[in-house]
Amino acid sequence: MARTLVAGNWKMNGTSASLPEIEAIAAGVTPEKEGVEALICVPATLLTRAAAAAKGTALMIGAETCHARGSGAHTGDISAPMIADTGASHVIVGHSERRADHGESSEIVAAQAAAALEAGLTPIICIGETAAERDSGKAIEVVTTMLSASLPAGADPSLLVIAYEPVWAIGTGNVATVEAVDEMHTALRARLTDTYGAAAAGIPILYGGSMNPGNAAGLLAVRDVNGGLIGGASLKAADFLAIYAAA
Ligand code: 13P
Repeated sequence: MARTLVAGNWKMNGTSASLPEIEAIAAGVTPEKEGVEALICVPATLLTRAAAAAKGTALMIGAETCHARGSGAHTGDISAPMIADTGASHVIVGHSERRADHGESSEIVAAQAAAALEAGLTPIICIGETAAERDSGKAIEVVTTMLSASLPAGADPSLLVIAYEPVWAIGTGNVATVEAVDEMHTALRARLTDTYGAAAAGIPILYGGSMNPGNAAGLLAVRDVNGGLIGGASLKAADFLAIYAAA
């Protein structure tokens, strides 16, 4: 069985004034809550201070993207070894906002995930369909194809995390139905099993897209949902901790 991961994605939000939220979340996560991990992914500018604030607690800190190369002439980019150096343990790759805003293809995402693994970070590989793709009845095909293309070749499956985030559900309040999530996560588990065999059962598959304290329990109860990737509701410690409690 996969462990459960409740992960926040702060996106392009947060300054030093937000660090008390990290401290409050760190104070609220309990190492005794067996099999449920808590993570907050913050902007690069906050990584070092967030990691320091969470040090010695059960809260883990992650980044929101990384470059596929370890170093070099890539102005403004941040590499996986740099992220690891801050004390962070995870990095999101392939978020739909990165794919849309920065043209990151699944091939690039697979290279970013490989770079993360090489640096000792856990990559959270994001995939999801647009509203048009869902309306055309091709969501399962699109997302399973995206998954296969975004997986780093030869990776140890025990080091991977997948996040299914339907683009139309992100930041809209339009959460996917439990039935649609169940169907998609079952298909993703099947694709992972085709790729990795029995070890696929241990890969956490998170749901993301308008998850909040009111709908989290229903989504997290779906068989192949092993946690959440939470945007807006992760910015406030009380909301994030309510979702963590639901897990
Ligand atoms: P929201 O929870 O704000 O919809 O964002 C989801 C998301 O994109 C997390 O990566």
